[in-house]
Amino acid sequence: MKEMINVALPKGRLGDRVYEMFAKAGYRCEELENPGRRLTFENPEVGIRYFWVKPSDVAIYVEKGAADIGVAGKDILLEYRPDVYELLDTGLGKCRMAVAAPKSFRDDPRKTLRVATKFPSVAKGHYSSAGREIEIIKLNGSIELAPILGLSDVIVDIVETGSTLRQNNLEVVETLFEISARLIANKSSYRFKGGSINLIKSGLNAAKGEIR
Ligand code: PRP
Repeated sequence: MKEMINVALPKGRLGDRVYEMFAKAGYRCEELENPGRRLTFENPEVGIRYFWVKPSDVAIYVEKGAADIGVAGKDILLEYRPDVYELLDTGLGKCRMAVAAPKSFRDDPRKTLRVATKFPSVAKGHYSSAGREIEIIKLNGSIELAPILGLSDVIVDIVETGSTLRQNNLEVVETLFEISARLIANKSSYRFKGGSINLIKSGLNAAKGEIR
C-alpha cells in the first residue's frame, strides 16, 4: 500500500493548471477528471488524494495538516503568513500586487489615505513602512469599484493583465511584489512523509516547462 499524500488544490482556472502539472508529473487521478458531486478524489496506485478548496483557504488546510501539501498564491502566503514550508515556485498564476488609483488621483499627505483591499495585512505593512497614515476598507471582491464610487482613494489589489484597471479608468501607482503559485507543505507532514513529498516536488519541477 502506497503512502497517501493529501493535496489541497485551489478551485478555478489556476487549479486546473496546477492539476495538469501534477498529472504531467505522474499523479493523474481519473476520478478528478469526472468529478460529479464528490469532494475528494484519489488514486491509491500513485498515492495521491486531492480536494478542491477555495484558493484563499489552501494555506489554512495545509497549516492545520488537513492537507499535507497544497498550492497557494504568494499573495495569500504574504497576507496570512501561515506556518508552512514553501517548497517550489510553480511559475503558474503570475501576477503582481499593486497600488492603483483613478488617473486623476493626487496624494495629499496631510489626509488619511483610504485604501480598499482584500489584503489588509499586506496593505498595512506597505504603508506603515512608508510612514503613511491610512484607513483600511476591507472588501471581498470587485475592489476596483471602491475609488470609482468614492469609497476609497486607492486600492491595493492583484493586477494580472491590467484590463480591469484600464476598463475602469484606474492605473497602477506602485507595484508591491510579484506573485506566483507556490507548492507549500505542512511542517509535520514534511517531517514524516518528506520522501513522498520531495518526489512530488521534483516531478512538478520537471513538469514546469510543459504547462502554459
Ligand atoms: C482579480 C483582481 C482584479 C483582477 C485583475 O479579481 O482582484 O480585479 O483579477 O485581473 P486583470 O489585471 O487581468 O484584469 P478576481 O477575478 O479574483 O475577482 P474579485 O473581483 O472577486 O476579486
